[in-house]
Formats: sequence, C-alpha cells, structure tokens
Amino acid sequence: MRLHVVDHPLVSHKLTTLRDERTLSPEFRRLTDELVTLLAYEATREVRVEPVTVQTPVSPAHGVALSRPRPLVVPILRAGLGMLDGMMRLVPTAEVGFLGMVRNEETLEASTYAERLPADLSGRQCYVLDPMLATGGTLAAALEFLVDRGADHITAICLLVAPEGVANLEAGIAHLDIPITVVTAALDERLNEKGYIVPGLGDAGDRLYG
Ligand code: PRP
Repeated sequence: MRLHVVDHPLVSHKLTTLRDERTLSPEFRRLTDELVTLLAYEATREVRVEPVTVQTPVSPAHGVALSRPRPLVVPILRAGLGMLDGMMRLVPTAEVGFLGMVRNEETLEASTYAERLPADLSGRQCYVLDPMLATGGTLAAALEFLVDRGADHITAICLLVAPEGVANLEAGIAHLDIPITVVTAALDERLNEKGYIVPGLGDAGDRLYG
C-alpha cells in the first residue's frame, strides 16, 4: 500500500480551517468539497486513459479519453457522502456505488449496513471516499468488499489519517494483491483513547451533517 500525503499550501490552508472548531456545517461542507477536488487531482494521477484523435479547427490532434469500464467512485456513508460532489467535479462520467458503514464507538469495530455496488468490478479502478482513517477498520473492510467483487486498482481519498490506522490497514490488507493507494491531506499525530484522530477535526459526520 502506498500513502500519499498531498503537500500543497492550499490543501493545508483549507484543512486548517476545517479543523477549527469554530467552522460551522455550511462552511465545513464547502471546504470539504474544495479540499476533495484538490486531493482528487492527485488521486486520479493513474486513472486509465486510452489514445483518441480529435479534429481541431486546424488539424488532427492526438489526445486521450478515459478508458472503459468507467471508474467507480464509492463514498462510505455517512461522512463520505460529503466528499462525493468534490470528486465528481473531476470525473463526472464515473459511476457511483455506495457502502454504508458505521464504527461501534465502544469496540471500534466497523460494520456494514448498506451496500449498493455493481456485482462485478472486474477491471475497474475504484476510488473510495472516507474523510477519516482512524483505526483503519472501516477502510480495510471496504477495500476487502471491493476486491471480493473484482476491483483491480483502488485509491482511497481521506482528509486525515492516523499513523495507527495506516499501520493497521497495511497489515489488514497485506493479502490483497492489487495496487492500493491512500491519498490524504495530512498524516496526524495519533489516536486518542476513544479512537479519535489527534489533533484531527472531531467527528466528520457530525460536523458535516449533525
Ligand atoms: C467515521 C469515519 C470513518 C470511520 C473511521 O465514520 O467517517 O468512516 O469512522 O474510523 P475507523 O478508521 O476507526 O474505522 P462513523 O462510523 O462515525 O460513521 P458516519 O460516517 O456515519 O459518521
């Protein structure tokens, strides 16, 4: 698994405002949207394209178009939904599938309560959207789900990740034999005893929709 921390002053600036407890839901949603678009630019660096030729007013021009099958974007409900528009702005022709997962706040175990994905993901590049990678349990389960269906290339976009979660995720998906990348705006310091990322930004779902 590859971890890519996007190092860009605009990303850091928007993330800092997002972390600020004084930032209320409307601005939090807008900043999340903008931040995801910036992260998506990096996350789609390996999106598959194929050569095409178009005719300009002057001459033929050789370029590229997104390959088929179309990429699949998978927001993890609930908080990942706040990242969908920012992603789709860059890849508007992508297909969207949904996974609903929730972490038990006592045991920190993730469970799946909803799933609406194409049955066969063979040959598909998938982009998973989830703002927080805390213990890594949610993302590990989501990746397992997608690989079981045949996904052969997965990139997860997370606003923030914790070092413990990255290590757990790496161990948990070591048996998955496909390229997996996590793109994030920041690798934070640690998890606290409640499984929250420190300094983090609090509960992303609550700040988006609470
Ligand atoms: C949060 C967050 C991730 C998950 C991360 O979701 O959005 O999905 O926890 O935790 P983990 O890495 O320890 O598994 P939550 O379960 O609070 O659900 P929500 O999106 O509905 O708020």
